Amino acid sequence: MRTQVGIIGGGPSGLLLSQLLHLQGIETVVLEKHTREHVLGRIRAGVLEHGFAQLMRQAQVGERMDREGQIHEGFFIAHGGRQDRIDLRALTGGKTVLVYGQTELTRDLYEARDRSGGKVIHRAQEVTPNDVNTARPYLTYRVGNEVARLDCDYIVGCDGYHGVSRQSIPQERIKVFERAYPFGWLGVLSRTKPVSPELIYATHERGFALCSMRSTTLSRYYIQVPETDTVADWSDERFFEELRARLPPQVAQGMIVGPSIEKSIAPLRSFVAEPMRYGRLFLAGDAAHIVPPTGARGLNTAGSDIHYLYHALLDHYRSGDDEGLDSYSEHALARVWKGQRFSWWMTTLLHRFPEHSPYEQRLQQTELDYLFSSQQALGSLAENYVGLPF
Ligand code: FAD
Ligand code: PHB
Repeated sequence: MRTQVGIIGGGPSGLLLSQLLHLQGIETVVLEKHTREHVLGRIRAGVLEHGFAQLMRQAQVGERMDREGQIHEGFFIAHGGRQDRIDLRALTGGKTVLVYGQTELTRDLYEARDRSGGKVIHRAQEVTPNDVNTARPYLTYRVGNEVARLDCDYIVGCDGYHGVSRQSIPQERIKVFERAYPFGWLGVLSRTKPVSPELIYATHERGFALCSMRSTTLSRYYIQVPETDTVADWSDERFFEELRARLPPQVAQGMIVGPSIEKSIAPLRSFVAEPMRYGRLFLAGDAAHIVPPTGARGLNTAGSDIHYLYHALLDHYRSGDDEGLDSYSEHALARVWKGQRFSWWMTTLLHRFPEHSPYEQRLQQTELDYLFSSQQALGSLAENYVGLPF
């Protein structure tokens, strides 16, 4: 089989790129390791920045997102028993974010690919990029007992942090920057009315907590837990008791509790691999970088990679101009690192670090005091949260 752009990974990055290129008459094939049900079963991002939402509209998959997604003009930070609101709209000159689940937008992307006969091959095992340093790269993979070959002009690795693309690059050609945090987020999805119409990020001596949502009837809650904890350690009762203990009393009292319909632990890690290109293999999204979820940057940063790569491929196929492809890594990384900085900052501001000395705890407290005493500091938080320009 032959295509123009071979895409590894059928998560949001891979599907979005495939859909955008299709609308411009550029052929793609997406190779996804898992079934569609599996991909849609992962509960992840919830907050979309303006630029990501625009990309969905550009890909002609924004209709349900615009109908069902909730525009959020602000969020709360709970600390020291009180809640302070970050007025995103006022602080950014009118910008807001959209609450719409990654599961839903991935479903929208799959359906759009189906409607236009897009090729998404599920259960593709042993996907291997070959000859990426030549003009004729190809992918090999196996579905069941059948081994297949996909010849392409370019390969794009959208296969997430654990994928094969980054790992197929010789170690001496890639530099890795990373930081692991000594805790994870335990997340619960529950069919209950969210405790607050806007997100609450809470910092407490017992640890961080987040009250988020997917709709007016579906709540998504998280608490910081030690990295050694497992889901089995946390019954629903224990989870909600701990969550409530970390929230201001007036919020905790109003919380409606219901059985979890999904419960999982995500480790927290900051990671960047540079450069995001090796020959004719390009990396995008979590395949090249991940952030702790605190600043809601992961999917949004994946979106900016796709924006740059889409335009670079378009220039190549339309006018033979390879300047965008040649500068892709540099351009994408400039924004990636800003997302890294913001996620690290918000994680450090709001979590309990077991290794922190009393001095560092005071600094954390002072950072919060400063934030809420300075319009400039609040403006910087808001500007980053709604998303820096592409
Ligand atoms: P992925 O979603 O990881 O998709 C990669 C795909 O590649 C998967 O389908 C995988 O099955 C497939 N694959 C892997 N290996 C192979 C292989 N060898 N061959 C073929 N296919 C393969 N981001 C935000 O912007 N806002 C948020 O509010 C937010 N909240 C989050 C909350 C949590 C709890 C977590 C864990 C993450 C959150 N994120 C958030 C981050 C966001 O979910 C990721 O950044 C996003 O999923 C990245 O998309 P991707 O397509 O690059 O990678
Ligand atoms: C979510 O709703 O899953 C969510 C929201 C905001 C974050 C992280 C996750 O910062």
